[in-house]
Amino acid sequence: MKDYSREIESAVEKYRTLLKGQLERVERINAAGEAVDYASLDKIVIGVCGGDGIGPVITAETRRVLEGLLSDEVKKGRVEFRDIEGLTIENRVARLQAIPDDVLAELKKCDVILKGPTTTPHQGDGLPNIESANVAMRKELDLFANLRPVRVPSQGIDWTFFRENTEGSYAVGSQGVHVTDDLALDFCVTTTEGTRRIARLAYEFARANNKGRVSIVTKANVIKTTDGKFLNLCKEVARDYPEIVTDEWFIDIMTAKLVDEKRRRDFRVFILPNLYGDIITDEAAEFQGGVGTAGSANIGKRYAMFEAIHGSAPRMVTEGRAIYADPCSMLRAGVMLLNHIGYHDRADRLERALDFCMFEEKKLTVTGRDTGATCRAFADYVSETLEKF
Ligand code: IPM
Ligand code: MG
Repeated sequence: MKDYSREIESAVEKYRTLLKGQLERVERINAAGEAVDYASLDKIVIGVCGGDGIGPVITAETRRVLEGLLSDEVKKGRVEFRDIEGLTIENRVARLQAIPDDVLAELKKCDVILKGPTTTPHQGDGLPNIESANVAMRKELDLFANLRPVRVPSQGIDWTFFRENTEGSYAVGSQGVHVTDDLALDFCVTTTEGTRRIARLAYEFARANNKGRVSIVTKANVIKTTDGKFLNLCKEVARDYPEIVTDEWFIDIMTAKLVDEKRRRDFRVFILPNLYGDIITDEAAEFQGGVGTAGSANIGKRYAMFEAIHGSAPRMVTEGRAIYADPCSMLRAGVMLLNHIGYHDRADRLERALDFCMFEEKKLTVTGRDTGATCRAFADYVSETLEKF
């Protein structure tokens, strides 16, 4: 064999840096305090970032609906909506930062964030290799739980996915190593507290909402170390919830079972490592009407961020279709935001209005093209419907 000692040395050096970074992170999350109690805050600041592509359109409409719902609180100064500029692909590329420092500093002055989709550079698109703004924000603000509900009442589908949001294949996803021209390696990360905290959140949710069943989804038969640890820790947490049925699945067969009409209505709550959670929630959203209808909450102890589960759809913009973008994903995220900061009555009204507009009355539908309603018209329809509830 050729002498690779220089290449190995250089790869080991990079690995050493990664390990130090992850061990520091472990210490940070082990030392994290309790979750914020929003009821105890004099004022809640909602940061609003439009993002890229169709982001500014769907975010502005969602903000309008939320401002309407919270108008009294805004007047009283209990809630402030604050524009956060600069989270655009142009600025991020110019600064060569996933989240430019000044933008991050502004985000950290907020309590919760409503964020439009942001463009993520990928191999071959000519953009510099900067990390996804979503992934960076989840890590910077330690938003460890990604909650993604999917409901299709007519088919008995009522799923809530708890996707681990800061670890797995994403933890150091933009810091893999090209050892030689022929060999590349990425890394997968599982930590004890990182897993326990997502498992606890999922089981607490299942208990509080009488869900009765939690499914842990991994590929622990092959990815034995990190997925194995994830599975074992989730099962350990499960023991504190004896009234809840826990089952274990591998991601491949779970992907199939979601399409099985006889079985899928039995599932309720899922816990998954980051990458599997990413993939399966797009599949799940498809049953509900597509990713354009699905919202997502990124929850941490200090901060939380609410977004659509889909990307920035730049093609809709180049084809002049941005005004026809579906605001439902962001409006659903808005329901989660309202619930998270304690306005459950407003959250219920918005959810009922959305269900009514999307599944029952369906006076307007959004198709993403001029065959359907504009984003603004649909948001107006939701606002008018809110008056009924
Ligand atoms: C999501 C998205 C992101 C992810 C991308 C844009 C990095 O697909 O929120 O599901 O993979 O987490
Ligand atoms: Mg995704």
